[in-house]
Amino acid sequence: MTEKIVLGIETSCDETSAAIVSSKNGILSNIVYSQIREHEKYRGIVPEIAARAHLDCIEEIVKESFFKANVKFDQLDAVAATCGPGLIGGLIVGSTFAKTLSFCFNKIFIPINHLFAHGLTVRLENEVNFPYLLLLASGGHCMFCIVNGVDDFQVIGKSIDDSIGECFDKTGKILGLGYPGGPAIEVAAKNGNCHNFVLPRPLMKSKNCNFSFSGLKTAAKNMIIENKIMESPEKISDFCASFQHTISEIVVDRAKFAISICENFGITPNAFVISGGVGANTKIRLALSKLAEICKIPFLAPKNSLCTDNGAMIAHNGIEILLNKNNVTSQITFKPFPKI
Ligand code: KG4
Ligand code: ZN
Repeated sequence: MTEKIVLGIETSCDETSAAIVSSKNGILSNIVYSQIREHEKYRGIVPEIAARAHLDCIEEIVKESFFKANVKFDQLDAVAATCGPGLIGGLIVGSTFAKTLSFCFNKIFIPINHLFAHGLTVRLENEVNFPYLLLLASGGHCMFCIVNGVDDFQVIGKSIDDSIGECFDKTGKILGLGYPGGPAIEVAAKNGNCHNFVLPRPLMKSKNCNFSFSGLKTAAKNMIIENKIMESPEKISDFCASFQHTISEIVVDRAKFAISICENFGITPNAFVISGGVGANTKIRLALSKLAEICKIPFLAPKNSLCTDNGAMIAHNGIEILLNKNNVTSQITFKPFPKI
């Protein structure tokens, strides 16, 4: 198979990222600029600020991705960019930049679905065949899918309200840990006692693999206020450990049902995969890897820097399309879409 080289651009949320990936040599560059500083003082992402920040730095980030990869534009086979779901301002910036480049240099433009890109990332550094069971756990989404192919994701369960990342972020915000809450809670939980606070586990043991996080989020908020958790660093640490423990128990319980749904469908997944920003959480990864071992399914997760948003996953998805689809043509008129 001939080598394919793709530029990937990611601007769907608060990371501006450009990467160059080769089907033969893997990631040649993956430049990620996080806008956390710009949003920190608002304790959450401000869409208008995000869009402007993408515009300010996208050219530099793309140039750097070529420089680091030591690749010239004419070596590319295609330009891929996230076209949704995400914040529309950022999606317009990234996709328009990518379309312009591909038009000027006569390269194929490939629109990428951000969720598919997260779900396929595991194949960037691991040999895993379809079908596999995926838990996509990010700031905007939480769902189980059976991944049957590059664009064939069968959703078998999802959150009926908030996403898992949102639950981490909102709780982190109430605790005064800043944005994003997920990594901050993980750090604060390190020396805490995970049994000191008992939080609810919505939908636990229900006979499907859906999630619900809004009740947990509200219970966490009330518990923080009632127990004056903010008054002591020890209490914060114990609370974060208990909160993280609760979420990993919920995830494992839901994953058991997801695995049994695969069995009912007569599907033997080639792997159990977690991906998306929350997939970077060590406690959740460990809990899921133990479950997968018991169920005799290989457990795989992209490395942390590939779980959170990055351009390499977008470029890789472009490569997957070039390699697995017939007659791929440029989709220059494709419109960015904010929602699935
Ligand atoms: O995939 P991602 O970078 O962006 C979206 O597509 O949404 O995910 C961001 C989410 C945020 O909610 C963030 O708090 C969470 O991933 N996150 C974590 C960790 N690292 C990032 N949550 C828990 N533990 C972590 N270590
Ligand atoms: Zn993402």
